[in-house]
Amino acid sequence: MTGPDYDHFCQLVRRRSGLVLTPEKAYLVSSRLAPVARAEGLGSVEALLTKLRTGAPEALLQRVVDVMATHESYFFRDAGPFEQLSVSVLPPLIAARQAQRSLRIWCAACSSGQEPYSVAMILTEMRHLIPGWKLDILATDMSAPILRKAEAGLYNDFEVNRGLSEERRARWFRREPDGWRVSPTLRQMVRFQPHNLLQGSAGLGVFDVVFCRNVLIYFDVDTKRQVLDQLRRALAPDGSLLLGSAETVLGVSDAVEPVPGLRGLYRPARGLARSA
Ligand SMILES: C[S@@+](CC[C@H](N)C(=O)[O-])C[C@H]1O[C@@H](n2cnc3c(N)ncnc32)[C@H](O)[C@@H]1O
Repeated sequence: MTGPDYDHFCQLVRRRSGLVLTPEKAYLVSSRLAPVARAEGLGSVEALLTKLRTGAPEALLQRVVDVMATHESYFFRDAGPFEQLSVSVLPPLIAARQAQRSLRIWCAACSSGQEPYSVAMILTEMRHLIPGWKLDILATDMSAPILRKAEAGLYNDFEVNRGLSEERRARWFRREPDGWRVSPTLRQMVRFQPHNLLQGSAGLGVFDVVFCRNVLIYFDVDTKRQVLDQLRRALAPDGSLLLGSAETVLGVSDAVEPVPGLRGLYRPARGLARSA
């Protein structure tokens, strides 16, 4: 699949989401757009691409961008970042926030919610260290359908068995006819909100910890730099940023710097930190 309609589609997706599609991804594009073409009553993906170029309603534009995003996620993904959160990130923050007695955590590009619920489990398990504190976990994604799933907090057997210990599953989930529902305690702790990383972070406030994992890999270098700059602006001067295991800022941005020995953990660069 090549030609002006395909090029137009790639530009549409990049402009709206930052996701980079190349000619080599034609097979992926075709397989993800085929169900959308069928649902639109069109005979082929090519016909859908033409419709997208020559005039399509906003809802269809959003739908095709959404299906091109990868929503893969699981509880306590890669384990390390969550270990770092409880062992290296939260203890000094808790010591530093004794006067305010509040913590703000942002899961940017949270997909189906496993990441913010994992964070909520950790915070609740550390409750004895922060009794009565105001805890705010903001979870955002550009995709409205995936946010609806996240907010519902309902997972199938496969999803609930990925990354969760038996103890955590028993403590935090209830069996329902359609799957496993996250407990009301955790659901009340997480606020889900649509947000596109290309639109900056102004208006979201300042965070002590930002998770932005497994999304920068899909962006080009300029977009990564722009997003990292925005994330740094959203971080408290002593805040922490956690990126995915395949993501690095080296050669991309000096807005944040790696914490030696703690892979995937970053702090605002000295001299660039947001003024409190
Ligand atoms: C692979 S998932 C990562 C989920 C989670 N952070 C994790 O590591 O398990 C990537 C998510 O990024 C979202 N996404 C892609 N581009 C985005 C953008 N420009 N703004 C906000 N979210 C975006 C997608 O909708 C998708 O849910």
